[in-house]
Amino acid sequence: MTRICVVGGGGYVGLGYAVALAELGHDVVGLDIAAGRVALLNQGTSPIYEVGLPEMLRRNLDAARLRFTTDYAEAVPGSDLVFLCTGTPSLSDGEADLRQVRSAAASIGMHLVPGTRTIIVNKSTMPVGTADLVAGIVAEYAPEGARFAVISNPEFLREGRVLHDILRPDRVVLGGDDEEALEIVAELYGPLQAPILRTDHRSAELIKYAANAFLATKISFINDIARLCERLGADVTDVAEGIGADERIGPRFLHAGIGFGGSCFPKDVGALTRMAEGAGLHPGLLRAVMEINRDAQRRFVARADELLAGLDRRVIAIWGLAFKEGTDDLRESPAVAIAEMLMERGAIARAHDPAARENAARRLPRVILCDSPVEAATGADAVMLCTPWPEYRDLDFTEVARSMSGDIILDGRNLLDASHVAAAGLRYEGIGKGADRARAADAASPQVARGA
Ligand SMILES: NC(=O)c1ccc[n+]([C@@H]2O[C@H](COP(=O)([O-])OP(=O)(O)OC[C@H]3O[C@@H](n4cnc5c(N)ncnc54)[C@H](O)[C@@H]3O)[C@@H](O)[C@H]2O)c1
Repeated sequence: MTRICVVGGGGYVGLGYAVALAELGHDVVGLDIAAGRVALLNQGTSPIYEVGLPEMLRRNLDAARLRFTTDYAEAVPGSDLVFLCTGTPSLSDGEADLRQVRSAAASIGMHLVPGTRTIIVNKSTMPVGTADLVAGIVAEYAPEGARFAVISNPEFLREGRVLHDILRPDRVVLGGDDEEALEIVAELYGPLQAPILRTDHRSAELIKYAANAFLATKISFINDIARLCERLGADVTDVAEGIGADERIGPRFLHAGIGFGGSCFPKDVGALTRMAEGAGLHPGLLRAVMEINRDAQRRFVARADELLAGLDRRVIAIWGLAFKEGTDDLRESPAVAIAEMLMERGAIARAHDPAARENAARRLPRVILCDSPVEAATGADAVMLCTPWPEYRDLDFTEVARSMSGDIILDGRNLLDASHVAAAGLRYEGIGKGADRARAADAASPQVARGA
């Protein structure tokens, strides 16, 4: 049993770790400056939506292996390890904003205890060189005689699968040069039986950015191919299946749609771009990845505009607001960008999301939030599906058709069964479905289409 303090313990990563480490039998205190979150957590209520989290939270609170506080003086002294999980959002130029990290490092340093040794585990996604920065700040504030080591241990979890990914990681990356501290952190991860990659700080920090940039590149790649499919009359789902079957490529992250979002991919690609520029390079690939992503959202709105012959005063139902299914997180969500673009063009946006309603009420006050997808579709000229919540696939589309004023279903995630939707008399359009569009054009105007 190790005594662990998780700084940023009210956030997605920090809360996931606080709960999972307690589940593994450790004595954990989650520390967060957000007093409201801490109060909720101590009552056994999770401030974030994540499958399995409320049950695991309550189990470990009840077993007295887990508690939450806002007080560094209560949490840091007596902890063998301090997990640093604060946010690293983007500044306006894309660079990582390290204010939360700096402030947390100073507070940790101040509360180290002379004569003890503490291991600080950098979990947050931090630009290359930040481990040295954290060590410098902690050293500046630490009392004399307090010893510490910093280990870089980037996190790869996915929202919507936080506990699964923490407890069953593909790999654990540990960066640093303090062999004893590396060994202790490696032992902590031992029960998870994941491969452990040991490296230096800088490589560990870069692995995280390179991993996210690669995944984002796969998404933008298939979205670029989707655009080509629409022009050339091909079907991107078949193309993706055909290329993904090659084991060198693999099928995952090849789902065409309205692009990636969330608190990680856009900010991490942006921060890596700034790191490359800062190193005197010209990160053309990374810039293109972001541009294709923004374009995917613009094109989705443009298509609605085209099909409805203008968006002014059109009623649009948005199905899904979270950046992906399984979460209530709206950060950098393509759906949010799309809702804003629609409203800028005069459309009336009605929306449904199974988990993100509360966050949406704050983030999108002008959107009419509805209790069900059918309610959102009521009186709508078009439905735009933005988040691939599985429940949308199983809807009764006859009921959807009856409730709508128009008949257009734009599927921004290629989630729905096109024939099922069409059987209800609705007009279905996915992303990168050039073959369908060619068929529809052919049916509408056989001679022109054949001659084109
Ligand atoms: N969310 C993800 O899916 C994910 C996945 C992998 C890595 N990461 C990285 O992990 C880090 C955290 O991400 P997140 O999504 O959990 O962020 P988050 O914003 O949900 O959580 C950060 C928490 O830190 C708290 N905090 C801020 N300053 C503090 C301070 N000085 N002392 C104590 N607490 C403080 C905030 O109140 C908040 O609860 C980021 O660097 C992110 O890039 C996130």
